[in-house]
Amino acid sequence: MNGNAYLPQLARIIHIKEEVPGARAIKTFRVEFMNGGGFDHEPGQCAMISVFGKGESMISIASAPTITDYKQFSIMRSGRVTTAIHDMKVGDVIGVRGPYGNRFPVGDWKGRNLVFIGGGCGLAPIWPVIQTAVANRSDFGRITVFYGGRTSRDIMYAAELEKLRGEADVYLSIDSPEDGWDGYCGFVPANVMDKPQNPHNAIAITCGPPIMIKFVINNLREMGFADEQIYTTIENKMKCGIGKCGRCNVGKDYVCVKGPVYSWAQLKSLPQEY
Ligand SMILES: Cc1cc2nc3c(=O)[nH]c(=O)nc-3n(C[C@H](O)[C@H](O)[C@H](O)COP(=O)(O)OP(=O)(O)OC[C@H]3O[C@@H](n4cnc5c(N)ncnc54)[C@H](O)[C@@H]3O)c2cc1C
Ligand code: FES
Repeated sequence: MNGNAYLPQLARIIHIKEEVPGARAIKTFRVEFMNGGGFDHEPGQCAMISVFGKGESMISIASAPTITDYKQFSIMRSGRVTTAIHDMKVGDVIGVRGPYGNRFPVGDWKGRNLVFIGGGCGLAPIWPVIQTAVANRSDFGRITVFYGGRTSRDIMYAAELEKLRGEADVYLSIDSPEDGWDGYCGFVPANVMDKPQNPHNAIAITCGPPIMIKFVINNLREMGFADEQIYTTIENKMKCGIGKCGRCNVGKDYVCVKGPVYSWAQLKSLPQEY
């Protein structure tokens, strides 16, 4: 970190992949730091991305911590800053400051079965956790990944998910039937209920739209998962990222520092302000 915590490091966009088309398009950006800059990160951490003249947005770091050549961010177009970055090209320069927040405690989960449940852009924050588990495959039991989008065109990381099938059970879903779709049709929580997961020695990690998370957690509880076995992230609006501005707080917690990763047991003990 250079003296001023708010000063971003410069990073050049080296690759852009269009993941999902449409009004709420998702693109994945790979950036490399300039001027010898950079930082290490842990799975679950995020970074503040700035588009000069437009503003900043907190975005999960979607690349595995072992990748040092670049950082990857998967960004949904939702407003001013995210639209500005969607309009950028390879070679353009953005600002990146971080890493911020806590991490998924993957190291504590050795020997356990891992169940990942994502929806929409929510695959991005858990992707580094999946990559870490797969890179250390023999440290973990069964790895299961549920992921869903509204339609088949809304499935992000489609090729990566297909490749993952060699290491994990992958169950994809779309909301309604489509010609040629051989995965599940229905919402993500229903797909999980359709393939009940054994809670014994398991950890479930879920990320996605708040309504999806709510129903996924209900279903996991019904299957017998304890609150301590369920992890998620919360994406309160953030400004400083370093516990100074009070923009992101839930009760006494500054989510940018204490979160965004919480077990359901921890979240239940906080005021329902997220
Ligand atoms: C810890 C964390 C991790 C995140 N990771 C990702 C990620 O990996 N990919 C990604 O695409 N987005 C991620 N987000 C959300 C992202 O920060 C916001 O979508 C972005 O800041 C919106 O900025 P904007 O200027 O484009 O939109 P604005 O013009 O500020 O807002 C557009 C719309 O989005 C709403 N909005 C703005 N910020 C948020 C927010 N934090 N949560 C929910 N709604 C919001 C506004 O109320 C408004 O309706 C993350 C947020 C947090 C806090
Ligand atoms: S974003 Fe400023 S305190 Fe968390």
